Order: sequence, then C-alpha cells, then structure tokens
Amino acid sequence: MVKSRIFFQAGDSDAYAIRSLKYKNAFTAGQTQYKNEFDEMSRIQKELEKIVHQRTIQLKRLNDHLIYTEENERKAIASDLHDSVTQTLAISISKIKNMKESGMEISSANLDEIQGNLEQAIREIRSLIYQLSPPVLDDFDIDIALGFLIEQINLQHHSEFEYTNLTDRAIPLPQGLKITLYRAVSELITNILKHSGTNTGKIVISMKSDVLRITVEDTGKGFDMEAVKNSEIVGFGLNRLSERVENFYGKISVNSSPGAGTKITLTVPI
Ligand SMILES: Nc1ncnc2c1ncn2[C@@H]1O[C@H](COP(=O)(O)OP(=O)(O)O)[C@@H](O)[C@H]1O
Ligand SMILES: [Mg+2]
Repeated sequence: MVKSRIFFQAGDSDAYAIRSLKYKNAFTAGQTQYKNEFDEMSRIQKELEKIVHQRTIQLKRLNDHLIYTEENERKAIASDLHDSVTQTLAISISKIKNMKESGMEISSANLDEIQGNLEQAIREIRSLIYQLSPPVLDDFDIDIALGFLIEQINLQHHSEFEYTNLTDRAIPLPQGLKITLYRAVSELITNILKHSGTNTGKIVISMKSDVLRITVEDTGKGFDMEAVKNSEIVGFGLNRLSERVENFYGKISVNSSPGAGTKITLTVPI
C-alpha cells in the first residue's frame, strides 16, 4: 500500500506565514489605496455639490430678477400708455365733443389741431413699440444698434451723448447677449440722465483679442461706490446688470467717486 504523501515538510509553515503576511500587506495597501480614492471621490463630489448649489442659487436669482424686470417693464409700458397715448387721444375726443356740443362751426384750424393730436398719438405709439422691441436689434450688429439707441436718446432728451465705434469687423453675438448689452448701455445712459446732473457723456465700443469692450463715461456728480454696492437695489440697476453680464462670462467695472464723474466698463469675451 502506497503511503500517503507528505505534502508539508518542515519549514513550509514559515513559507505559508510569509505568504499570508504578504497577502495581508497587499490587502491592507489595497484597502488604503481604495480608501484614499474613495476620500478623493467624496471630496470631488462635495465640491461638485457646492458648485451645483451655487449655480442653482444664481439661476434662481436670475429667474426672480427676470420675473421682476418683466413685471416692471409692463408697469412702465402701462404707465407710458396712460401718460402719453391715452391722454393725447382723450384730448382729441374732448375737442370733438366740445365742438359738437357748442354747435360751433368746424373750422379748418380746429381740424388741424385734432389732426396734430392724432399724429402725436401715432408718434407715441411708435415710440412704445420701439421700446418694447427695438427693431435694430434684429437687423444690425450691436455697434450699429447702439448708434441708433444713442441717436434716439439724444433726440428724445435733447442730450449730447457722443458715440465712438472703434470696431473694424462684424460682431456676431448671440441674441441674448446682444439684448443684454443694448439694455445695459440704455440703463447706463439713463443713469447719467437721472443721477449725474449732466446730459452729456461718451460711449465707446471696441474689440481687441476677442474681447468686446464698451465704456460709458460722464463727467457729472459721481457717487460713493461702496454705498451703492451695499444697498439692496432692485430693478435693472447696476447690481443686477452685473449679474446679467456675468451670465455671459462678462464683467462690469464701475469707477466713480463723488465729484469725479463715472466710468463704467463692460467687457465680454466673444
Ligand atoms: N452716472 C451716474 N452718476 C451719478 N450717480 C450714479 C450714476 N449711475 C448710478 N449712480 C448712483 O448709483 C445708484 C444706483 O444706480 P442703479 O443701480 O442704476 O439704480 P437706480 O438708477 O434705480 O437708482 C443711483 O441711485 C445713483 O445714486
Ligand atoms: Mg438705474
């Protein structure tokens, strides 16, 4: 009968112990590496969650702002309609009524007056339509559209804003960015008319290394930038304007101090 083979000889238990220690070490090293990777992944996940959270807040604020702006714009249009067209038409009607009730003869001068009022009403309606949706934004690049805007403001307010267009090629912008820049410049010029104590200023547009730059400058009163930065301003004012421009990876830099005028620079990569 064949004796059963002896598989383990003297010394084998040591080899076994060494091998299992190696496995154990390798396992521990693997475990450590796994733990490090897991920690790193957790850290990245937390960072991503933070970014998503911040972005969500930004989007919510933008959304609130858009609703607010839309509501404000509606109010402004309603108030314009009330103050302009409605009044002009009401005056015309009242003149016609007076003529009828007094039984007076309708003279050519009376008719001229009413015609003048009705023509005025049409001009006011045209101006409102223009404000609602400036047709130049559909048809022209931002540099040309701004030229029209400034011309229109100068006519309407008897102001003397000077426009310099230093761009030397077409500026194809997404429509959203074009509208944002157009409204921003319109707001900055309105600010000059409202707050600076002057009705003059300089607006310059230029393009350098794929960065579009627009500056709006006046030599009026100026203001305390810290006070404005810390105040909770609503509407399409400076603070909100900055948020909107940032949404297109752009920047707005405000340079002003009391008595030293105001210079605002908008830069956007395109
Ligand atoms: N060009 C300017 N000249 C003087 N003050 C200005 C000018 N632009 C802005 N300001 C000041 O900054 C404030 C904030 O402007 P803005 O955010 O547009 O709000 P709003 O025009 O509704 O007051 C203004 O109330 C005004 O005091
Ligand atoms: Mg303003």
